[in-house]
Amino acid sequence: MSRILITSALPYINGIKHLGTLAGSMLPADVYARFQRSRGRETLYICATDEHGTPTELAAAAAGVDPATFCAEAHRVQHDLGRRFGLSWDHFGRSSSPQNHRLTQRFAQQLWEAGFIEERVTQQVYSRADRRFLPDRYVIGICPHCGYEAARGDQCENCTRVLDPADLLHPRSAVSGSTEIEIRDSKHLFLRQSLFSDKLRAWIGEKRDRWPLLVTSIALKWLDEGLQDRGITRDLEWGVPVNAFEWGANPDGALPDIEGLAGKVFYVWFDAPIEYIAATWEWAEAQALEAGKAPAPDAAWERWWRAPEAADVTYVEFMGKDNVPFHTVGFPCTLIGLNETRSATGAWTPSSNAPWKLVDELKGFNWLDYYGGKFSTSQQRGVFMDHALELLPPDYWRWWLTANTPETSDATFTWEQFQVQVNADLADVLGNFVNRILKFCENRFEGVVPSGGEDGPLEIKLHADVLAKLRELTEHLEGREFRKAAAAVRQLWVLGNQYLTEAAPWTALKTDPERAAVGVRTGLNLVALFARVCEPFIPFAAETIALSVGEAFPCRWPDQTGEGLLTALPPGRPVKAPDVLFRKIEDSQVAEWRERFGGPEGG
Ligand code: 2FM
Ligand code: ZN
Repeated sequence: MSRILITSALPYINGIKHLGTLAGSMLPADVYARFQRSRGRETLYICATDEHGTPTELAAAAAGVDPATFCAEAHRVQHDLGRRFGLSWDHFGRSSSPQNHRLTQRFAQQLWEAGFIEERVTQQVYSRADRRFLPDRYVIGICPHCGYEAARGDQCENCTRVLDPADLLHPRSAVSGSTEIEIRDSKHLFLRQSLFSDKLRAWIGEKRDRWPLLVTSIALKWLDEGLQDRGITRDLEWGVPVNAFEWGANPDGALPDIEGLAGKVFYVWFDAPIEYIAATWEWAEAQALEAGKAPAPDAAWERWWRAPEAADVTYVEFMGKDNVPFHTVGFPCTLIGLNETRSATGAWTPSSNAPWKLVDELKGFNWLDYYGGKFSTSQQRGVFMDHALELLPPDYWRWWLTANTPETSDATFTWEQFQVQVNADLADVLGNFVNRILKFCENRFEGVVPSGGEDGPLEIKLHADVLAKLRELTEHLEGREFRKAAAAVRQLWVLGNQYLTEAAPWTALKTDPERAAVGVRTGLNLVALFARVCEPFIPFAAETIALSVGEAFPCRWPDQTGEGLLTALPPGRPVKAPDVLFRKIEDSQVAEWRERFGGPEGG
């Protein structure tokens, strides 16, 4: 049985994430991780905060603290919110960890020595007033493409074009606002991505039938436009320092320019994906510490990432569509470059080191927006993770966001649709079913699973229908089709309700107590089944439901053969109706939340 390694795109450290970020990476990864664990597969779900880069330095400066202090607190907040949402990370690491410093530096060194990194003198924006270079968002100016006045040095928010700080017209410093700016030479390292085009095209070609079209089309578009070499260093203080003084010669026999590279750090998009691996190392360290066996041997985390031990690992990545180029091109170049060496004549040979694992399955998502517009932190538009939990328990959000995952196109959150769907699915269909059958069992069968009676045509048909739907659900989850999976779960709940209405044990009780016993026993077994299939989606309710019929939690995924599907509960077992599982969302609440968080733009 294969092991499953799961990563979801690392959330930037600055700011609490909105529901779109949750829906388009962390939550579906969690649903998948919970599903795989409940199937009995050895599963590792890794995430972390993405802590480097100019936005972090700027946010820390705005908060009046140094970046390290800022990141430590912001990490704590995001970790806590994730846990409260039920995100079952095995480890939620930090890209600023010592492990990531070590790996990023080691990888850069190996890439240099293998001939995949080269030095270039580049023209960078320098602020005389701030006495520093101004990379990325540190520069603001007029976009040369669309004329937008507040374009940032890395990208124009208006026309979305990717920019270089030196492209901006009338540049000014985002630190001091100073326009005393000049262009100076600065030495930087470039990953020679252009060398990897053919290898990447062949690799993505192999994935064509497996990966979502969204993913392969974005990846191929980048390749078709011609892969550019990418600057992987920055003139910043906060980040992983470039350690060129430790490096040996490249295949041409050249050593790096130690002085020219002094004081630089790696670009955030170089070190962030490496943190997937480093966070696995952090996880192994934490495990070892807990077991009193620190430090962890490298084998403890490398078995997830390096051949031959990782041969049975299926590596699955989850991310929003903007991240796809970095995961189909950028990070794979790093890993392929570690797995191969390029000689001075240009010939490629496999590296003598154990190869690093490339992604097997990549699930990319479209955007979830808010009333057809962007979620916006600055304009306070939309719902963010902390506010969401103030309003309602996590399962309400988890259910709606999974049932409306932006898979094949962008999706929109509106309070009205949220209210209708949550009330219908969770309160009317699931909650009502669980409550109805358990209350009846308490009132008429002394709160124990009844014995007696034989399954009749109704139960035989139910078994066949439920099994077919369960197989469909399992297939959708294996295929990471979350909307379809949620629809299949809902259809299972509907089958349960239809059965209870037809079996009507409350009516049968008057004339045929054994028939009534069969109806109640089957209904209670459906409750147990629902707990199992709900767990990936709504784990908090699933636990309550499982415990109400005396089942263990976390649950095991139901057997696909149909064996024991509706007979798992032993007759005589005590059961107990839970408190109301889901309260309906009232119109007055919707009105209040729309007012507080914003409704349709202009509406
Ligand atoms: O887009 C983002 O939110 C990035 N912080 C994702 C990084 S994913 C990975 F490569 F680290
Ligand atoms: Zn523009």
